[in-house]
Amino acid sequence: MLESAHKARTGSSGLAHLMPWSERSGRLSALKLIVFLIVCAPALYWTAQIWADIPAHPVNYIVKESGDWSMRLMVAVLAISPLRRLLRINRLILVRRMLGLAALIYSLIHLVFYFVSQDWDWPLIIDGMITALYLTTGYVALALMLFLGLTSNDVSIRTLGSNGWRRLHWLVYPAAILSLVHFLLEVRADGDEAAIIAGLLLYLFLFRGLRRVTGEARLSHLLILAPLCGIATLVLEAAYYKWGTGVHAESILWANLDFPHDIRPSWWVLFAGLAIAFGTKAYERFNPTQPRVSRK
Ligand code: HEM
Repeated sequence: MLESAHKARTGSSGLAHLMPWSERSGRLSALKLIVFLIVCAPALYWTAQIWADIPAHPVNYIVKESGDWSMRLMVAVLAISPLRRLLRINRLILVRRMLGLAALIYSLIHLVFYFVSQDWDWPLIIDGMITALYLTTGYVALALMLFLGLTSNDVSIRTLGSNGWRRLHWLVYPAAILSLVHFLLEVRADGDEAAIIAGLLLYLFLFRGLRRVTGEARLSHLLILAPLCGIATLVLEAAYYKWGTGVHAESILWANLDFPHDIRPSWWVLFAGLAIAFGTKAYERFNPTQPRVSRK
């Protein structure tokens, strides 16, 4: 019955509209298809690696990779609204839910493989959950992500109302911060990537704050944000290595000046910020007739 109602409304037949690459009308969306292939690629790659017996410890390999990808996808989710506003491409919103669900699925894979790595030893798992701060933050982040995932559907939006739903989905920010804390506290993790993620998240949070205050992000704002976040990343990196490994902050500063021989996280964050600023300007120049996005 639901299907015939949908058919009458959209003119599409079958279950095409339920496919992740379809629009509501059931038509294929090239954007959604490309993003779907991108989010599936890491899992396919890990499967191929394990098939070829490449990782020495496949379970640990999946825990590490799924954690990394879940974190990267969270940054991507948070980047959608700013990019949509800057480039004035409303269609980008079509892939935000997909990116969020992919981040959640990779987090669940991360959790299940972590349980496997602990031989499903529940007393040990529960002890870790309570006593190890990096695990506690991970669990809370995942609980928030699960809640967001379960309410990312039309029924929840209708029930809560557009404003209520948007207020609730503000929880994506604490979820991202807790995931980052979990990443930073995990001693075996790649500190450089953690610092880059921290710098990018700061950029996205400041962008949002700036837009709230000024109403519109101008090129001058973006040009200030890029070095500001680069410097903040440098400070965070120095603190991270000082407290985590005892490396002197001065050595980190010198390493950052060893550019371009060693491109440190602060440089990557600066480049990303400048790429957004100049990329937006270039895009505007070639697409002057793009309609403005709504404030929604
Ligand atoms: C559900 C609770 C979670 C548990 C029990 C958990 C457990 C772990 C463990 C044991 C590691 C260390 C892996 C290793 O070094 O081999 C790790 C690393 C990591 N986790 Fe989680 N995690 C959880 C949630 C999350 C969430 C929600 C995210 C992000 C959205 C995340 C992102 C990461 C990242 C980025 C790493 C570092 C991977 C690397 O070494 O590069 N984790 N996690």
